[in-house]
Amino acid sequence: MEKTYLMIKPDGVQRGLIGRIVARLEDKGFKLIAAKLITVTEAQAKKHYAEHEGKDFFPELVGFITSGPVFAMVWEGDDVVALSRLLIGKTKVGEALPGTIRGDFASHTPLNLIHGSDSPESAEREIANFFAPNELAHYNKDIQAWM
Ligand code: PPS
Repeated sequence: MEKTYLMIKPDGVQRGLIGRIVARLEDKGFKLIAAKLITVTEAQAKKHYAEHEGKDFFPELVGFITSGPVFAMVWEGDDVVALSRLLIGKTKVGEALPGTIRGDFASHTPLNLIHGSDSPESAEREIANFFAPNELAHYNKDIQAWM
């Protein structure tokens, strides 16, 4: 099953949007297999955003993601990388459509609430940067069995 790394950024945590964002991901049918509230270290931030090193916004990017707690998550599902990015919406909030997380809740770029891996390969690297293997849960999601 495909996995992705999703991270509610400091603006999402400060605005009290963790529950509503998680609910949207659950509503879509994805399976949550790990989650924790953490403060990203500078080393983790630089590794996470390594592909942007050298760009003019890199210092701001690292500064923002380390500025307060984030809600780090791993989700599983068919095509979860692409589908979760559709649900999140475009990076620039002016381009994020209504109905997406950014389109509905974010009003200023780069305060765009949530990060999502852009490929299964990135997801694997990003998950390893924030979670130890034994932090990932293995379980069957069988709603009927619990009703
Ligand atoms: S690029 O150059 O087109 O690849 O960059 P882009 O996809 O637009 O953005 C990559 C990530 O950087 C974030 N970003 C910023 N964060 C903080 N401050 C500034 N100024 C800034 N500019 C861009 C943007 O939200 C993307 O973050 P993620 O977490 O990948 O969504």
